[in-house]
Amino acid sequence: MTTLVTGGAGYIGSVLTAKLLDSGHEVIVLDSLVNGQKEAVDSRAKFVSGDVSDVALLKKIFAENGVEAVAHLAGYIEVSESVKNPEKYFENNYEKPKVLIKEMLAAGVKNIIFSSTAAVYGVPQEDLITEDHPTNPINPYGESKLKFEKFLLEQKKNGLNSISLRFFNASGATKEHGETHVPETHLIPILIKCALGETQEVDIYGTDYETKDGSALRDYVHVEDIALAHLLLFQKMVAGESLEPVYNIGSGVGFTVLEVVSAVEKVSGKKLSLKYAPRRAGDPAKLVASPKRIKSLDWAPKHSEIGEIVSTAWNWHVGRTVR
Ligand SMILES: NC(=O)c1ccc[n+]([C@@H]2O[C@H](COP(=O)([O-])OP(=O)(O)OC[C@H]3O[C@@H](n4cnc5c(N)ncnc54)[C@H](O)[C@@H]3O)[C@@H](O)[C@H]2O)c1
Repeated sequence: MTTLVTGGAGYIGSVLTAKLLDSGHEVIVLDSLVNGQKEAVDSRAKFVSGDVSDVALLKKIFAENGVEAVAHLAGYIEVSESVKNPEKYFENNYEKPKVLIKEMLAAGVKNIIFSSTAAVYGVPQEDLITEDHPTNPINPYGESKLKFEKFLLEQKKNGLNSISLRFFNASGATKEHGETHVPETHLIPILIKCALGETQEVDIYGTDYETKDGSALRDYVHVEDIALAHLLLFQKMVAGESLEPVYNIGSGVGFTVLEVVSAVEKVSGKKLSLKYAPRRAGDPAKLVASPKRIKSLDWAPKHSEIGEIVSTAWNWHVGRTVR
């Protein structure tokens, strides 16, 4: 099967591209490189530099490659930036990919898996968040993703088969691909960069949450498990199986920020300098998925122990040649 991966030069997209290729897909990566790196794209994939809203480019990609399915990961991902500049997020995460869908349908490409986020839920009302939890995003990032989920559902009338995957905290690395963002806003790479001496200290936001050690609790799902969920769902989609429009992708287990700190200290052998700060507005105490729905389709996280997840990320960071 030939699959177009938008955002395939980014963190999750680069892992997904490699996994799709390993399992026999032909892959075309479309990425504007606004945040990704071309070197992160597996050399077996065909790389196209460009934007998901470039009509002429999309027409060319669909006309020349026999694309059967799209994994749409391209987007902006920083919650705090979205609060400062909501328009940037609605433009890139909602308006632009609408063009991608229009061109997919014009070319007869019907299958898409969209990278959505747990941020669509807002403040959790349950310890384990199911897909039926109300969606009340509390930042423009989550809102932009929810709007696009809704747009995809509306396109069912035009023959589109879509699935939105609500990832919790993507984490870890494979041997070849890992996480680095500029600026870095995700906990594990922030801690690792500190352990490697690239930064001096780490801010820990909130010490008085109702969790076992007062720090916030999150669900860390390994990037390889996210990729495997895509593989499984693409297979079922093209086989015409009946699927839900939305799946949580999380491990179902929560770890506190301080547990993640300990895991990084253990794997690196370095004591990190922590600066305790007040809670950040909009950061809930706990965000943990109920992955029951995706587990009913024979998916289970291969990595759910935080020490092991962190060590995959550490090994990738230590082995990186380009920093
Ligand atoms: N990382 C996480 O923990 C997490 C959690 C939930 C959801 N997600 C979603 O998963 C997707 C991938 O996340 P990531 O961490 O790999 O992000 P990333 O920033 O590493 O990758 C995104 C890629 O998209 C590209 N891109 C952005 N806008 C584009 C556009 N208009 N046209 C073409 N390319 C464009 C960037 O250059 C980048 O390579 C995002 O949509 C994100 O919202 C990520």
